[in-house]
Amino acid sequence: MYLIHPRRYFRNFKNKIEVLKLKRQAKKYGVELLLGSNVRIENCSISSNSEHGYPNSKLGIEDNCYLKCAHFGFYGENSNISIGAYTHTNGGEKSKVTFQVGADSTINIGEECLFAGGVVLCTTDFHPVFNEQGERTNPNKDIFINNHVWFARHAYINKGITIGKNSIIGAHSVVSKSFMKENVVIAGNPATIKKENIYWEE
Ligand SMILES: CC(C)(COP(=O)(O)OP(=O)(O)OC[C@H]1O[C@@H](n2cnc3c(N)ncnc32)[C@H](O)[C@@H]1OP(=O)(O)O)[C@@H](O)C(=O)NCCC(=O)NCCS
Repeated sequence: MYLIHPRRYFRNFKNKIEVLKLKRQAKKYGVELLLGSNVRIENCSISSNSEHGYPNSKLGIEDNCYLKCAHFGFYGENSNISIGAYTHTNGGEKSKVTFQVGADSTINIGEECLFAGGVVLCTTDFHPVFNEQGERTNPNKDIFINNHVWFARHAYINKGITIGKNSIIGAHSVVSKSFMKENVVIAGNPATIKKENIYWEE
């Protein structure tokens, strides 16, 4: 009789190695990594466009998340990514789920969210745009996703977006403004509300 099933033992062992890999990358780029309990990591990565990263970068992953093929990019100081409990990223080797944060900005993901492969959320345009007065017209802005939102394949979430809880973002949609309404299907380019009063399950 086994104290722990060999397959489960092997999975736990593999997860420990994946967590170690992520911790090593966090250290390399100076990202403070806060890991909750029972977090499962598979083929995830952290990077930065600066060799040693930026000050005050933080990645928080709450309890019971299952993150497969997620990529976390830090592109400036005071950049934060926070992933709520029970969130699942279901990316693939060639279609990662990408979270990118620029300076002084945050991506805040609620609990029980689901991300399909190829989804991108980005708080920065990377290159500044200026008007005639020399003022920047495209500053970095926070992204705020409420609980239980499902992102279908290859959805793109622009800077400054808030999404209401229990909603679905359609495949290949470009979300360029906020939708506070809850329980809606948001889809298209630019994305608009296509259905109301829906509910989804994983
Ligand atoms: C978002 C989604 C789940 C909605 O499915 P649904 O509730 O059956 O929606 P419907 O097909 O009835 O479409 C409703 C309307 O939205 C439009 N629509 C749906 N998905 C769209 C999309 N991705 N882009 C643009 N328009 C879309 C439809 O054309 C339709 O428009 P109409 O009312 O003008 O006719 C589905 O369209 C989708 O994106 N599926 C992909 C799921 C996925 O990526 N799974 C991977 C595993 S996590």
